[in-house]
Amino acid sequence: MCGIVGYLGEKDTKGILLSGLKELEYRGYDSAGIAVLQKNDFQSYKAVGKLINLEEKTKEFVTDSFAAGIGHTRWATHGKPTELNAHPHLGESSYVVHNGIIENYAQLKKELVAEGVTFLSQTDTEVIVHQFEKNLKSATSAFEAFTKTVSELEGAYAILLVTKSEEKTIFFAKQGSPMLVGINAENEKYFASSDTPLIGQCTDVNYFEDGDYGYVTKDELAIFDITGTKKEPIFQKLSTNKLSAQKDGYRFFMEKEIYEQSTVISDTLLGRLTETEVLFDELDANLFDGIKEIKLCACGTSYHSALTASYMFERHARIKTSVEVASELRYRDPILTTDTLFVVISQSGETADTLETLKMAKKAGLKTLVICNVDNSSMVRLADASILTRAGVEKGVASTKAFATQVTVFWMLSLYLAKAKNTLTSDEITKQIQLLREVPASVQVSDTIHEKIRRLSKRYLNGHGFFFIGRDVFFPLALEGALKLKEISYLHAEGYPSGEMKHGPIALADPGLTTIALLPQHLLYEKSKSNVEELSARDATICAISPLVFDKADDYIPTKEHTDYMLEFFEMMVVVQLLSLEISVRLGNDVDMPRNLAKSVTVE
Ligand code: AGP
Repeated sequence: MCGIVGYLGEKDTKGILLSGLKELEYRGYDSAGIAVLQKNDFQSYKAVGKLINLEEKTKEFVTDSFAAGIGHTRWATHGKPTELNAHPHLGESSYVVHNGIIENYAQLKKELVAEGVTFLSQTDTEVIVHQFEKNLKSATSAFEAFTKTVSELEGAYAILLVTKSEEKTIFFAKQGSPMLVGINAENEKYFASSDTPLIGQCTDVNYFEDGDYGYVTKDELAIFDITGTKKEPIFQKLSTNKLSAQKDGYRFFMEKEIYEQSTVISDTLLGRLTETEVLFDELDANLFDGIKEIKLCACGTSYHSALTASYMFERHARIKTSVEVASELRYRDPILTTDTLFVVISQSGETADTLETLKMAKKAGLKTLVICNVDNSSMVRLADASILTRAGVEKGVASTKAFATQVTVFWMLSLYLAKAKNTLTSDEITKQIQLLREVPASVQVSDTIHEKIRRLSKRYLNGHGFFFIGRDVFFPLALEGALKLKEISYLHAEGYPSGEMKHGPIALADPGLTTIALLPQHLLYEKSKSNVEELSARDATICAISPLVFDKADDYIPTKEHTDYMLEFFEMMVVVQLLSLEISVRLGNDVDMPRNLAKSVTVE
């Protein structure tokens, strides 16, 4: 989730770019940079860490004439957060900024290096500017070279490029990553990856569509569609409320992040799937050499994704897997053996308990892996290997898209291991990969379901508590649903294995006890159904979440019929997230910043 800004005009370009990047600060970043072309001379500055570091570096730099400027805040997906990897990236006489992932960057880079091009960074982005300058050598214009370059890219991108070969011009392209262009009465042109930086600067904006590319000059905005046909911009008025704009119009960051899950899961998958195998180019193939067991360790929601992973690792990769709560493992004087791969899971990469267990494992000589959403975090720096979830910054304290991308990474990792250990046939892996590709669609929020959950939530504002129940991977999902509800509605809820209810908890069954029952069609449906019938027979209030109508439920939230239980898992995940959100809204709670909680628990 990088941030992009651009400006073409005669005002203070540097100031406009920096304030635009500041407005994107809420998206999170680990480095930033700008490049300005004025009087046919380029100036570029980059800095890691806070934006103030970039402001410090540019304080002597003055932009006092007509200029083309681009800026970028980076959320690392390829390559560590360093100045060299920060955008903009330079060719010989051109700069580019990019948000997204160029899936075929490795092939393009290989060809360019073979032709003698020197790369400075580890990023996928840098291939864009070198490919452009390669095409420039044989093109009749910079725009022709840019058009050819865009046609050669695969993956997701929002690109801004400036070049000395066509001064006073900014080239743009959009595919899969958001970007818009704004105009005003002074004929200035503004670009950004979201509308916040343009508020107060522009009056009208055009949100680019996938496949759009083109250029702006002082007097022209030329947009072309994927067929190369010129198209008229579709301008609309810009909102004026910055906070609402940061939430993209949603009521809360948590709501926005639930709706973002489809997009961010696509990012998590990008560049990591072929038709027949899972690729983690950030992992050394020998990471699993000599490994006979995997121990997963985390806290909170990350612990729930770890539990989910344990079912997949044992089912697909046939490898013994255990799961630990970090705050327990720390003081249990555990047996840690070097044939165990120690995996920590953390959205923030800073959770104190989890970090301490990572140190314990390293001290005991174990190989370590971290599944994390923040590059350069303490855990990423400490672990032997890391896989980034690419969820983008998660502002809601109650985690949603981080959980979704963690489970996605674990599903891929279980297949990666299954191939290495030959525990699944290539046909089985191919089928699983086809299912993975359906996950983004399975978490798309339908207005119908959201409205049904919103209406239903009025019934769940009191009573003496909730059980969320499920079997197999739906048990950790039940735990996660219960945690979401506790965190933001402050109502008591427990997640439980469906089959365990008869071993005591069913004593609580009465009309005041609400059970949210996860009833997937493709995993132990009959067994789960009979567990719920036991509760219903004792007049407990039941809300069934299932693709199959369950007539003994008091309430029923219909999910789609899928071909596999994991797609049911992801759809039901969205349902329990929305349920906790809408109950919390009705109770008037602060959904994004619930009482007593912090986004990252960096203390014991
Ligand atoms: C999840 O909704 C909570 N905010 C909390 O349980 C969180 O998952 C836990 O503190 C672990 O955080 P981490 O993933 O950043 O390590």
